[in-house]
Amino acid sequence: MLTPADFIRKELKTVHRYPMICAFAHNWERIEKFQWRPDDIVIATYPKSGTTWISEIVDMIQNHGDAEKCSREAIYNKVPMLELSAPGVRTSGTEALEKMPSPRLVKTHLPVDLIPKDLWKNNCKIIYMARNAKDVAVSYYYFHLMNKLLPYPNSWAEYLEAYMTGKVPYGSWFAHVKKWWDKKEEYPMLYLFYEDMKENPKKEIVKVMQFLGMSLGEEVLEKIIHHTSFEMMKGNPLLNFTKIPSVMMDHDASCFMRKGTIGDWKNYFTVAQNEIFDVIYEKEMAGTSLKFCTEI
Ligand code: PPS
Repeated sequence: MLTPADFIRKELKTVHRYPMICAFAHNWERIEKFQWRPDDIVIATYPKSGTTWISEIVDMIQNHGDAEKCSREAIYNKVPMLELSAPGVRTSGTEALEKMPSPRLVKTHLPVDLIPKDLWKNNCKIIYMARNAKDVAVSYYYFHLMNKLLPYPNSWAEYLEAYMTGKVPYGSWFAHVKKWWDKKEEYPMLYLFYEDMKENPKKEIVKVMQFLGMSLGEEVLEKIIHHTSFEMMKGNPLLNFTKIPSVMMDHDASCFMRKGTIGDWKNYFTVAQNEIFDVIYEKEMAGTSLKFCTEI
């Protein structure tokens, strides 16, 4: 029987060659055996790319902009994370999803290669949201400081080195965004960008609505934009993760809803770090049509 002491601030494990959070790597067969349902809606992201934001947007769309209905549960209960496992603290993602009525919203940070294979046969709707690598780096650093399921990151410089070389949970940001981008050529999915959502939420929310086969009027769209704005989400205990116990998250180290901006990386990257990052970026992203915006 595992207890929090077995997985708090432990080193990463390797799952099929990907670095994985120690607690999640436990009993990986549960992920491989996971049963998808054809009406599942999958929200896939690299960590810190706006998962919570797009999850609440999808739930609001499904509920015709009714914020009351969307307040039925905290976000992590109504949109369980497939690979989550924290014995003694939280019900695992697979268990929570098995008990859930359809249609389910499923959150995952898994790279394409680790997705339980049945998904591709089930025709589930997939929404992937990507965010620029530099803002993800900073957001992920602060998440390492607060989320005790992750190894302690030490200094920003040390952590950035690990991030650039893919030695963080779920591996390389570059591989993640590129492989999901390529996957959309063979499996129709909606591939969104955090920066587009920030710049023009209405346009992106309409895309999601159409992808889900829904039609909502202006007034409902405005309600969704308002309810899912950063300020509203930061102040909403059902969405801001403040109810996650301190054994798992140190809310004094960082807020989950930290800044919610584009370009915060400029406050953290030194000139030298930025130059090194840009060289790696050029090399890793050569040959892909995937383009990101890192500032407004
Ligand atoms: S997780 O833990 O991987 O699921 O985190 P995730 O939800 O993907 O990402 C958290 C970052 O998204 C920001 N966020 C938002 N930005 C803008 N608008 C809204 N509504 C919003 N909701 C969440 C959140 O603040 C984290 O980014 P940073 O840069 O750390 O602030």
